[in-house]
Amino acid sequence: MKIIAVMIEKGGAGKTTTAAALGCLMAARHRVLMIDADQQGNLSTLYGVADPEDKGLAALLSAVHGEVTVADVVKQSRLFGDKKTGFYRVDVIPANGYLMDTNTEIATDTENDQVRRLQAALSTPEVQGLYDYVIIDCGLLLDMTVLNALVAADLVVVPVKMGGFEASALGHMADTIEQLHGLTDALVLRSFFTMKGRNDASDQFEKWLKSFDRCQAFDTTVSRSVIVERASINQEPVTSYSPRCKVSREYAALAKEIMEVLK
Ligand SMILES: Nc1ncnc2c1ncn2[C@@H]1O[C@H](COP(=O)(O)OP(=O)(O)OP(=O)(O)O)[C@@H](O)[C@H]1O
Ligand SMILES: [Mg+2]
Repeated sequence: MKIIAVMIEKGGAGKTTTAAALGCLMAARHRVLMIDADQQGNLSTLYGVADPEDKGLAALLSAVHGEVTVADVVKQSRLFGDKKTGFYRVDVIPANGYLMDTNTEIATDTENDQVRRLQAALSTPEVQGLYDYVIIDCGLLLDMTVLNALVAADLVVVPVKMGGFEASALGHMADTIEQLHGLTDALVLRSFFTMKGRNDASDQFEKWLKSFDRCQAFDTTVSRSVIVERASINQEPVTSYSPRCKVSREYAALAKEIMEVLK
């Protein structure tokens, strides 16, 4: 079982779009668990499992002695797929505002482990035997929930859109991963260019990103497209809303590269 976290400390960077698109694609062929690690609960909404009363990931992270298991908090997503490929559901651990309390609770709980809680919950034989991939959509702040996600992960995928603040946020991700190396030696960091426009500035930015020596970039870039906005208004991952559009094909290429890195 391999764990992928999608993270950059920048709002609106395409984290949720990416996690949701990858999950939908990969679940057509593999056993996938999606985890919403953002109190905004956007991934939960896209997968049709948002519920303000359901503590979801907050309950799992609050339990320090394994009293709550993945099986206790998992929900079944809406149906994906089509007549041609068949229909399927994905397991999702949802999130919502309860995570705010959990973040404070973990930060002040110096008696128990603070950053290995998700790792512990995912390393049981039951979970390891049930899934091929776990995909975690992180929130935009490096809070206790996100730290738990990064410590549990094998690969951190960083979506980077064009801009100076995005570029420095990528540098900051590289710093964070270096700092975490004492806790997780095998953690790999990879970026990719998202929301790429068709202009010279985008081409220049792509060159810069692909030559940035602190974080290797995937070959695949994802274009900017109004279909992504339409999919999010329709509360659906783009790869299920429009499986054959350009962005979905690009996400399929990205998924392939990700699975290759994790082999
Ligand atoms: N390839 C794309 N083309 C056009 N719009 C996109 C693309 N990818 C993402 N977007 C749009 O950008 C906005 C932000 O995307 P998203 O919610 O995935 O970012 P995020 O990093 O998860 O944000 P947050 O930090 O708030 O969690 C959304 O409105 C989404 O529809
Ligand atoms: Mg998001």
